[in-house]
Amino acid sequence: MARLTWHGHSTFSLVTNGGHRILFDPFLNDNPKSDIKASDITELDFILCSHGHGDHFADAVDIATRTGATIIGTYELVAFAQSKGVKNGHGMNIGGGHTFDFGYCKLTAALHSGSVAGDDEGRYSSQPCGFLIDLDGTRFYFAGDTSLTMEMQLLAYKVDIALLPIGDNYTMGPEDAARAVDFIKPRVVIPMHYNTWDLIAQDPDVFREFVGDRAELVVLQPGSSYEF
Ligand code: NI
Ligand code: MN
Repeated sequence: MARLTWHGHSTFSLVTNGGHRILFDPFLNDNPKSDIKASDITELDFILCSHGHGDHFADAVDIATRTGATIIGTYELVAFAQSKGVKNGHGMNIGGGHTFDFGYCKLTAALHSGSVAGDDEGRYSSQPCGFLIDLDGTRFYFAGDTSLTMEMQLLAYKVDIALLPIGDNYTMGPEDAARAVDFIKPRVVIPMHYNTWDLIAQDPDVFREFVGDRAELVVLQPGSSYEF
C-alpha cells in the first residue's frame, strides 16, 4: 500500500509500497496551508521538483541537504541545487525517463514559466515539468504547474492517478483541469495548487461538477492522505 499525503498547495509526501519516501515540490515553511514545517522532515529518499518557483522549491535545498535525499528534476534546476550544496541530484529532461529505486520516472511537458527561487544571477532559469511515475504498476502523474496542453493527450490511458492544479491565475483552473481529465483519462484525480491564497481560491465541488463521471475525484485536506 502506498500513502500519499497532501501538505497544501502542490506539496505531497508519498511513501511507496516498497517504503521509499518521496516529497513533491517542497513548500512548507511559508505555505499558509501546510500541516508541517520543513524541519519536521528528517528522513527522506527523494525530492521531485517540477520547477524552481518558490512555491515549489523553497524548502528543497534545506531538506535535501539535511536528509541526503536526491533531488530529481530538470538538469538546470538540479544543477542549481547542487551549486547550493546539495550532494545528491539527478538531472533529467522532458520526455526522458529513468528507473530509480522507487520505480520508473519520466519527465512530462508543462506549459509554465521557469525562474529559480534563490538564483540571484538568473543563471539557472529552468523549463518546468511534470512527473509520470510507475509505482509497482500504478501509474501516477504529478502535473506540476501547467496550463491545459495538447501534450496531455499523449498521457491518455497511461495514468491511474492524476494530480492536477486547479487554482487558475498561475495554472489551469477547474474547467481546463476537467478538460485535462478528458485528455488523460485517469481513474482517480486529485486537485492541487488551490486555496493557498485568495488569488487561487477554488471550490473543489465546482471542479467535481466539471469532471462529472470521467474520474473518481479525491479531495484531500492538508495533512490527510490517500492510500492506493
Ligand atoms: Ni510556478
Ligand atoms: Mn506554483
